This record gives sequence, structure tokens and C-alpha cells, in this order.
Amino acid sequence: MVQQLREAFTIYSLDCLPSVVIENQFRLLQQTISLKMFIRICIVIFGVLTVIRWALRKKWGSVDRTNEIRSKGKIVLITGANTGIGKATALEFAQRDANVILACRDLEKAKEAVSWIRQKTTLGQLICMELDLSSLQSVRTFCKEFKSKYDRLDILINNAGVQVPPEKTKRTADGFEMHFGVNHLGHFLLTNLLLEPLKASAPSRIVTVSSIAHSWGKIYFDDLNCEKRVGKGLVINTLYSDSKLANALFSKELSKRIQGTGIRTYALCPGGVVTDFGRNRTGPMTWVFMILGPILRYILKSPQEGAATTMYCALSKNLINESGEMYRDCRRWNQKSRIQLDDEDANRLWQESAKLVLITGANSGLGKEATFEMAKRGAKASRNLELTQSVVEQVLKMHPSSELTAMKLDLGSLESVREFAKEVQSKFDKIDILISNAGVYAPLGKQMKTAEGYEFNFGVTK
Ligand SMILES: NC(=O)c1ccc[n+]([C@@H]2O[C@H](COP(=O)([O-])OP(=O)(O)OC[C@H]3O[C@@H](n4cnc5c(N)ncnc54)[C@H](OP(=O)(O)O)[C@@H]3O)[C@@H](O)[C@H]2O)c1
Ligand SMILES: *[C@@H]1O[C@H](CO)[C@@H](O)[C@H](O)[C@H]1NC(C)=O
Ligand SMILES: *[C@@H]1O[C@H](CO)[C@@H](O)[C@H](O)[C@H]1NC(C)=O
Repeated sequence: MVQQLREAFTIYSLDCLPSVVIENQFRLLQQTISLKMFIRICIVIFGVLTVIRWALRKKWGSVDRTNEIRSKGKIVLITGANTGIGKATALEFAQRDANVILACRDLEKAKEAVSWIRQKTTLGQLICMELDLSSLQSVRTFCKEFKSKYDRLDILINNAGVQVPPEKTKRTADGFEMHFGVNHLGHFLLTNLLLEPLKASAPSRIVTVSSIAHSWGKIYFDDLNCEKRVGKGLVINTLYSDSKLANALFSKELSKRIQGTGIRTYALCPGGVVTDFGRNRTGPMTWVFMILGPILRYILKSPQEGAATTMYCALSKNLINESGEMYRDCRRWNQKSRIQLDDEDANRLWQESAKLVLITGANSGLGKEATFEMAKRGAKASRNLELTQSVVEQVLKMHPSSELTAMKLDLGSLESVREFAKEVQSKFDKIDILISNAGVYAPLGKQMKTAEGYEFNFGVTK
């Protein structure tokens, strides 16, 4: 047995340490402890782990299926449903006869998940759709396709998430820091674009998978997109924690903005779950986790157990009158054991996020980018002359030879549009390129009207 163990150990550690070192260590170990003693130690460790496992499982709680809203025929959208907690959630909904949309960035992997679920149940409908949260274009295309197929959505599960090592400075397609971009902004835009179908099937629910890691997070409003900071942390990247705090704040602020629509929103921590989540880990921790792997698998949650709180938030009748709260282990999460979510931060993060993903006029976001691109030949229009003027100055600094004209245009007022057009005609005799870029998003429920009394979103965007 010792020989076998020794072989296994040597092979296991081959890439990590020179085998001579290991053999010497092993000989030393053999000299100090006898086989009997070794077995005894193993039994004691196993016993302790079993007690821990038992205690943890008692604490986790479980879903009470008899206290759930029926999900037969309900339309359920799950992001990142091809593996881990997302896949387990998809299985749970399929078993409850729901129509499950698996929104994944890799359709092949999504199909594999469907076959896996089909081996376990024939109930429910499983539909794969492509969604890459690291590209806002992909989010927009996805929502368009979704809305062309469905006019309602009962349950949205914002589950997908990434964690990459701190040294990695990967960015999303739109240049956002990876954690902030995928975990927060991608879901922020997705949720906002799906509010209409959610509203159409009210009472409906939005469930956002955050993490205990949010407690160690911080929102850096002066450096939201991480241009100055770098991530830190051996096991958990601080940028990941920040993005999970953003998830929690998002859900809280969302609850206020959708008040009165019949949509409810919940955020949660699934607990420690054994999934593919560490796949992007590098460095010495890869080895630590590989060696701890069997132990973690024994005491931590399986993906099915990890999906329980998601199911609780999505279906429990107990939560009918709640919105904007956080949950863990299938119950409301005691505020004392986590960070306090600040209302002002939540509001501010919402506004900043909206600026980043929902295109405003030419004074920020894509419009600003387009302006940089068009700097050599553009005239441009914006509602707020002062803001625009500062952008003009920025552009001029980068391209001193540009010719830019700031002009006032408020699409919220038809009168302003007419005046603007008249002014353009008097100043220029032709326009080469017209960029209809501006757009707004006004919260549902609040009745905002343009100067002429049109519904705000309709009036400005059209
Ligand atoms: N596991 C835990 O202990 C734990 C603890 C606290 C919170 N959480 C949270 O639980 C959620 C699920 O995690 P998990 O443990 O199930 O991890 P996982 O097994 O790694 O699954 C993550 C899912 O997100 C998807 N995803 C990643 N980047 C994406 C992108 N750009 N666009 C679309 N989908 C993307 C992945 O797709 P690919 O397979 O294509 O990469 C995968 O389907 C995450 O939000 C995580 O933060 C997990
Ligand atoms: C994480 O690793 C997976 C598998 O190796 C890879 O497909 C994915 O692109 C990586 N994610 C990031 C954000 O680097
Ligand atoms: C929700 O509120 C309604 C109306 O106030 C009440 O009748 C009902 O018992 C509440 N349900 C729960 C689960 O709290």
C-alpha cells in the first residue's frame, strides 16, 4: 500500500516538484510514522470531515417543493446554463415542466448540457440561445431575438459569472474590465432590455446570483472600469468581489425602479459549490485546489445543492411580498453576517452603468466614441451644451485639427428638434452623415413624458 501511495504521489506531483525532493520527503515521512499510525490519522481526518459535512448540510436548508409557485409552462431564462449551478438550475426547472432557455456563449456546450438534462428528465422544454455577456452587441442581439420569439418572460436568472486571475488584464469586447463587464454590466443591460416581457407576465421574478464575496467588495466610482487599479488576491480576485457587490447593489436598486410593475427581484449567495468555477485559476493555487479537490467535493455543495437557493428565490411562495433582498441557504440572509448595501451607492452605480451601456447622446458612451472617430468631419448635437463642450475640448486635445461644432438638441422636445434643424440649415449647406445615436431609458412604472406629452422612451428613441 505504501508503495502504491508513493507511486501515486510521485506521479501526481511530477510537474510541481522534482521527484527526488518528493522521494526524500516521503522516506522521511515513512521513517517517522508507521503505516498503522498513518491509517489512524486518515480515519480521524475522515471522521472530522464527516462531522463538518453533517453540520454544514444541516445549516444549508432545502427547497420545499410543496410551497412553490407552479412552474409548468413558465418561461425561464438562465444565463450560463451549460455547466455548474446554471446547469443544475436548468435541470430543476425542466423537472418542474418549465420552458427553459439556456443562454450560453457556446451553443455546443449548451447542447451537451441539454443531453445531460434529457438523461434525467423528459419533462419541460429546453431551448439553447447564444448569449455572450462579454459583448454588449451580443446582449442586444440576444434580446432582440428573444423578443421576436417570446412576448413574455416569467423568470430571469442572472447566473453566469467569471473569475480570472488578478494578473490577467483581459477586457470585454467593449473594453470593460472582465468581471465588471460580464458579471455586472452584461446582466445590467440584459435585465433592462427584458423588462418589457417580464412586465408582461407579472407577477414575474428576477434572480441574480451574487456571492458572499460581495462583502469584501467595493465600488470605486472614480475608477469604475478599472483603468488605475489592479486586481489582488490569491484565491478570490478583488475585482471579482467588486463585481459581486455590483450584482447585489443592482438587485437592490432594481427593486425600487420596478416597484409597481409586479416584477420582483432577489439576489443570493449559492454557498461554496463544487463547479468549474476555478477553471481560469493559475499559479500555485491550482495545485492547492487539486490536492484539496476530493475533500472539497466531500464537504462543499454539489451543483444541485448549490442551485437550491436560486430555486427558492425563483419559486417560493414565502417571497411573494419581498423584493430587493438577499438570500442564502434557502432563507433570507441575515444582514449582520454581510456587508450593508448602501442606497446611495446602489443608485449611483445604476446611473453610471446606464451611462456605460445605454447609449446617451454624443456627450458620453458610444456617442462619444463615435464622436472621437468622426472628429475630423463632424458636427454634433447634444441636449446638454455644457457637457458637450467638455467633450469637444477633449476631442480637440486629441485631434487638434478637428472641426467640431456643439449645438443644442433636445429630442425630448419636438420644438427643440425643429429649432435645431433650422440652425443646422442656416450654418451648413449640406450634411454628409447623420448619426441617430441618442437614446434614453426611463424606468418602468414612473410616468415620464416628453415636452409634448409622448411616453418618454418612445418619443426620444424614435
Ligand atoms: N461555485 C461557487 O462556489 C460560487 C460561490 C459564490 C457565487 N458563485 C456564483 O455562481 C454563479 C455560477 O457559477 P458556477 O459556480 O456555476 O461557475 P461555472 O461552473 O464556472 O459556470 C459559470 C457559467 O457562466 C458562463 N459564462 C462565463 N462567461 C460568460 C460570458 N461572457 N457570457 C455568457 N456566459 C458566460 C460560463 O460559460 P462557459 O462554460 O462557456 O465559460 C458558465 O456557463 C456565478 O455567478 C458565480 O459568481 C459561485
Ligand atoms: C476561462 O477558461 C476557459 C476554459 O479554459 C476559457 O474558455 C475562457 O475563455 C476563460 N475565460 C476568461 C475570461 O479568460
Ligand atoms: C403578502 O401580502 C398579502 C397582502 O398584504 C397578504 O395577504 C399575504 O399573506 C402576504 N403573503 C406572505 C407570504 O407574506
